[in-house]
Amino acid sequence: MKDTAFYKDVLNGLQAPQKYLPSKYFYDAKGDILFQKIMEAPEYYVTNSDMEIFSNQSSQLVEAFGNYYENFDVIELGAGDAVKSTFFLKALANSGKSYTYRPIDISINIIDFLHSELPQRVAGISINGLVGEYLPALKQAYLQSSNKKLVLFLGSSIGNFEIDEAKKFLREVCNLMNPGDSILIGFDLKKNPRQILAAYNDAGGITKAFNLNLLSRINKELGADIDLDSFEHFPTYDPVTGSCRSYLISKKKQVIFITGAPKISLSQHEPIHMELSKKFSVHEIDEIATELGFQIRPYFFDKKSWYCNAIWEKK
Ligand code: AVJ
Repeated sequence: MKDTAFYKDVLNGLQAPQKYLPSKYFYDAKGDILFQKIMEAPEYYVTNSDMEIFSNQSSQLVEAFGNYYENFDVIELGAGDAVKSTFFLKALANSGKSYTYRPIDISINIIDFLHSELPQRVAGISINGLVGEYLPALKQAYLQSSNKKLVLFLGSSIGNFEIDEAKKFLREVCNLMNPGDSILIGFDLKKNPRQILAAYNDAGGITKAFNLNLLSRINKELGADIDLDSFEHFPTYDPVTGSCRSYLISKKKQVIFITGAPKISLSQHEPIHMELSKKFSVHEIDEIATELGFQIRPYFFDKKSWYCNAIWEKK
């Protein structure tokens, strides 16, 4: 237990002067189900806007890669159920382009599922998944083939990084890419602040349960004794920075015990930072591309302009 990354990351976070927990740990089996439910919640517009782009504009997306022809690799960072990318992969197949789909996911279950599922969605698809963390798996994909590559990083996952971390991550992706390779990356955009806050504060309490589930995961996997009822879910949105942040606030002064670790004390009203879901302006997206040295290629928006799938090319 003590030598797992989960244990170390949880302790690091809870021992920091400003307590935090990494949101990447939201996604255990229960968390996956809760996230599915969030996507069905009426307030959670993010998936709908993103999906609209893929369902309505996949052929335009394919046209944007007009210079991709024989045998290229479509690599997806964090493929999940690949519902959005399926629209794109179908349109690619329909345009007669030949490619290998290389989904990357931390979960072998996801990769196994995609290997059996994708051929049923896209007849004749060539699929070769990679299990692992984004950067090591991407590196492996580059070592395994010299094909031209298109990297997909969808669903606004980039918004979960602090901005400096996001740039650092994208710089490393860029360094692995070859000139002429492209990345298709999803950004949730700044919009009416109330709309954004509501999406992370759904009336059904699913987002609250999603946050609290990480505490119950810590109880289960790290032998802790956290009382879930002693925390309040507190989502915030700052329209200036576009930072949508969720906190769990300790309702009382309390002590948490994790097996084998020093006790962790919380004062009344002390916050644990749980998640950042950053919202961007188009100008900011352009600035990041320019700063990292990418060539800006077409951007795709839903009808309401709430979401942007941007294409950048490695120069
Ligand atoms: C899956 C990271 C895009 O940040 O909007 C949904 C996760 N958190 N509701 C997001 C999430 C709370 C989601 N992403």
